[in-house]
Amino acid sequence: MAIFDLVRDDLVKVEAEIRLESVASVEAITTIGRYLHSSGGKRLRPILVLLSAKLFGAVTPGAIRMAAVVEMIHAATLVHDDVIDYAETRRGKPSTNALWGNHTSVLAGDWLYMQAFQLALAERKFAVLDLLIGLTQKMVEGELLQLERLGKIEISEADCMELVDHKTASLFSACARLGAIFGGADDSGVERLGEYAWNLGMAFQLVDDVLDFTADEGVLGKPVGSDLREGKVTLPLIYALERATAGERAEIAAVLADGHYDHVSFARVLELVRRYDGIQRAMERAESFRDKARSIIGEFAFSPYQRALATVTNLVTDRDH
Ligand code: IPE
Ligand code: IPE
Ligand code: MG
Ligand code: MG
Repeated sequence: MAIFDLVRDDLVKVEAEIRLESVASVEAITTIGRYLHSSGGKRLRPILVLLSAKLFGAVTPGAIRMAAVVEMIHAATLVHDDVIDYAETRRGKPSTNALWGNHTSVLAGDWLYMQAFQLALAERKFAVLDLLIGLTQKMVEGELLQLERLGKIEISEADCMELVDHKTASLFSACARLGAIFGGADDSGVERLGEYAWNLGMAFQLVDDVLDFTADEGVLGKPVGSDLREGKVTLPLIYALERATAGERAEIAAVLADGHYDHVSFARVLELVRRYDGIQRAMERAESFRDKARSIIGEFAFSPYQRALATVTNLVTDRDH
């Protein structure tokens, strides 16, 4: 794909940097670091850093480093997220917690966060540390907010958007801003590209929430139907619940209370979500964020990188994993 061709050589350097930085004096951490790193993932966040740097200038060693930093932060959040969600699968393989247990996984996640910060520190830029610390706090706040709302059926669209902003859009925005900073953008360029990526991230997480209902498990690399089973009421369900009958709401509430689909099947839930246009309306919301991202990137001067960032907006909504 053309987008990847534009950053392929830089991504190789990013991968090397991550591998180099994932070595600890304790073997468990190195093993987990390698496991995560080799298990795949779309590398969307580093790609965003690299394309953003190229949009304004060139990819410097600093930009490569930042691309490694954001992927390491992402990996750390996934490790912690899977502990919190009791997830057994990630990227088509057993999750870290499934293999090493919760205690080791939490500590490995902590270590990864700190390693990412240490790598960022090498740039000696306070603005970058400020951005990364604020970002990480926001993501943790998002996971905490989500925990507080677990099992609650009375979740509003606004609650959902708040979570999506914290959990995912904030990181996407940070990726673009970091790339822009290292590419030499001025403040307004950094902010505007950050807004582009924030909208992209909102679309991305809303699609993730849709895929949790509609995807093929083998392709997705994580089980479907997990969100509701884990107690999370996401946008497709929020929309369906608005139109469902009292009896149907009770069926959804039962799954939330049970934490499994033994009494009310996932197929039944999916049927309700589809019947009340939950999937379609959530996709429309995702598409409106995508369109906003596309219109912002359209303000930038034409270049292969500007085109690539515009094309990324389609990949976010038209994907199966
Ligand atoms: C997973 O992100 C977490 C969400 C924000 C939904 P990705 O879907 O980008 O995960 P990988 O890195 O490709 O595995
Ligand atoms: C992902 O949230 C956001 C993170 C910050 C990890 P999810 O819980 O929806 O992610 P998946 O579905 O487990 O990848
Ligand atoms: Mg999860
Ligand atoms: Mg999810």
